[in-house]
This record gives sequence, structure tokens and C-alpha cells, in this order.
Amino acid sequence: MNIVRMNIKAAAPRLSLLRAGLQESDAVLPMPIGLSRKICEGSVRALNQVLADTVTLRDLYKKHHWQVSGPTFFELRRLYDKHYAEQAALVDQVAQRIQLLGGVSVAMAADIAERTRIERPPAGREAIPVQLARLVSGHENLLCTCHKAARQAQDDGDDGTSDLLVSSVIRTNEFQVWFLVQHLVPEGDREGIVAVARAAGKGNLSE
Ligand SMILES: [Fe+2]
Repeated sequence: MNIVRMNIKAAAPRLSLLRAGLQESDAVLPMPIGLSRKICEGSVRALNQVLADTVTLRDLYKKHHWQVSGPTFFELRRLYDKHYAEQAALVDQVAQRIQLLGGVSVAMAADIAERTRIERPPAGREAIPVQLARLVSGHENLLCTCHKAARQAQDDGDDGTSDLLVSSVIRTNEFQVWFLVQHLVPEGDREGIVAVARAAGKGNLSE
């Protein structure tokens, strides 16, 4: 009994230790990977934006997965969850790349909310066309950020970041957009839904 009590006491959080951070959120530590710290800092900054937007998009898929209704309920519910899982895998890859570069991955909901460029949806349920337009807009917003970041990483010689963005993040997001648009938009109405999606975005799509 005494031993159990002692162990619980030893495991109790020490507030002084919790306050002593190991690394500031914007600090980038040197890593022996053949890249200058300046280049790593640039890639970390860009990847944290990609991470914040990917987490937001991931959660938007789960919101829609829970809240979808209507005649295509079953199919859309499954599609949303499939895309959610793929975005969750990207979140892990991008976050790990940030740590590998010596940075600190943005992680908690409040920090993600401050940083993301994807528009905050209402807490309530939305109709299917609105759900789809919101997702397509979020994807295109993220893709614009990724294209820019991939070009910069390529110019900087950060091949790992460039490869991650092009081979994983961009390709996955493009594929998901294709499924949303191709699966659900009637023939001949594609321009309409793209226009609606862009109108729902935050305005960096023309960059
Ligand atoms: Fe579920």
C-alpha cells in the first residue's frame, strides 16, 4: 500500500518542469542533414502552414462525415472518412518532417486555429452541396500553399521537403478533389461548382 502511494506521488506532474520548455515553438535547431539552418527555417515555416491547413481539412472531413444526410448519406459518409484517414496520414508525415528539420510542429487545436488559412465552418450542419464546395475550396487553398512551398524548397535544394509536398501532399489533395468533383458534380456543371468553391474560399486562390 505504501509503495503504491509513493509511486503515485512520484508520477505527479511537477509544474515547474511543465513550464520549462525544451524548445520554443519558432526555434529551429541545427540538424546534420546537409542543409543550412536558414533553409531549414524557411521549410519549417512553410510546412507548419501546410500542417495547420491539413489538420483543418482533416477535421472538416470528420465534421462532414458525422453531419452528412440525404439520399447519398452512406456513400458520402464513407468517402469523407476515407479522405479523413488520408489527410491524417499526411498530418503525421508533415509533422515528422518539421521535427526532422529541427523545428517544432504546430500541434494543438488553438494553435492550428490561429494559423490556418482555411475558412472556419459554422458549428451547425450544412447541406451536401455546401459541404462539397467547402471541401473543394479548402483543398485548392492548401494546394496553392503547397505549390508555392514546393517551388521554394526546390530552389533551396531541400529535396526531401519538395518530394514530400509534391509526391504526397499535392498528389493526395489533387486526387481527393478529383473524387469530390467527378463523383458528385453533374456533367457540364463543373465550372459552376468550382466558382462556388472559390467564392467560399479566403481569396488566395489567384496567387
Ligand atoms: Fe465514423
